[in-house]
Amino acid sequence: MRVVETGAELREVLLEYAGLAGRRVLVPTMGALHHGHLELVRLAREAAGPGGTVIVSIFVNPIQFDRSADLEAYPRPLESDLEKCLAAGVDVVFLPDRQSMYFPDRSTTVTESLLSSGLCGATRPGHFDGVCTVVLKLFLLSGCHAAVFGEKDFQQLAIIRRMVRDLDVPVEIIECPTVRESDGLAMSSRNVRLTSKQRADAPRIRRVLAAAAGLRDVEEILASARSGIEASPLARIDYLSLVDAETLQPVTRLERPAVLAAAVFYDEVRLIDHVGVAPL
Ligand code: PAF
Repeated sequence: MRVVETGAELREVLLEYAGLAGRRVLVPTMGALHHGHLELVRLAREAAGPGGTVIVSIFVNPIQFDRSADLEAYPRPLESDLEKCLAAGVDVVFLPDRQSMYFPDRSTTVTESLLSSGLCGATRPGHFDGVCTVVLKLFLLSGCHAAVFGEKDFQQLAIIRRMVRDLDVPVEIIECPTVRESDGLAMSSRNVRLTSKQRADAPRIRRVLAAAAGLRDVEEILASARSGIEASPLARIDYLSLVDAETLQPVTRLERPAVLAAAVFYDEVRLIDHVGVAPL
């Protein structure tokens, strides 16, 4: 496994793999790798084929954080991340630092302006500009044929698909289903920051959303999910929304497939989850 730190180094190392059969598949991450990420790597390996190249990028992208406390507290267990990549059969780990990714006078940003208007986009201003900008840079630096993203961040996935479509980016987007702990909590690098009481409470998010998704009236769905989450004194709702599965705009009637999505704070730790809601 090769570990490289700058875009120039990455290009040079990838030249060594250029003659091999199979595809070059990227797994963009911010590190603190858990089983969910390893599932992304497994899908990448499959998509790359026997002679293909799997690249994992680990970069805590500063321009997608709206709260500096969140950026600073983001876990960075580099040594164990590298061990996990090695064990998972990753070929190249790309570990850039902020200076090598962004010019101090950077003035170009990629903005998606419809799907990013609500949900995490509304409560985290600039977040998806930061995601789109870094993801496009990672695509260009790696020259990947395909890239794998988790379905847990369904808004991020929809925005990246839209960016790829709108800008004719020649990268196939592969979706990986959400990986959950045995009690239903979606795996996230932020889970390790929960206290034991918060960790025991957090599976309620999934439970409450799944129960509400079985109701048939938009107002009732939202009221049931809200009261279920607010029943916990530890949890504070950042947003709770029922949106169209394709446009991500809020719905008032269940006429098309929809998604019930929530972001919930446990103190400073913000967790997200969602469930699909079938039309009437
Ligand atoms: O999902 C993430 O971890 C990040 O948003 C990503 C896609 C690696 C971009 O920084």
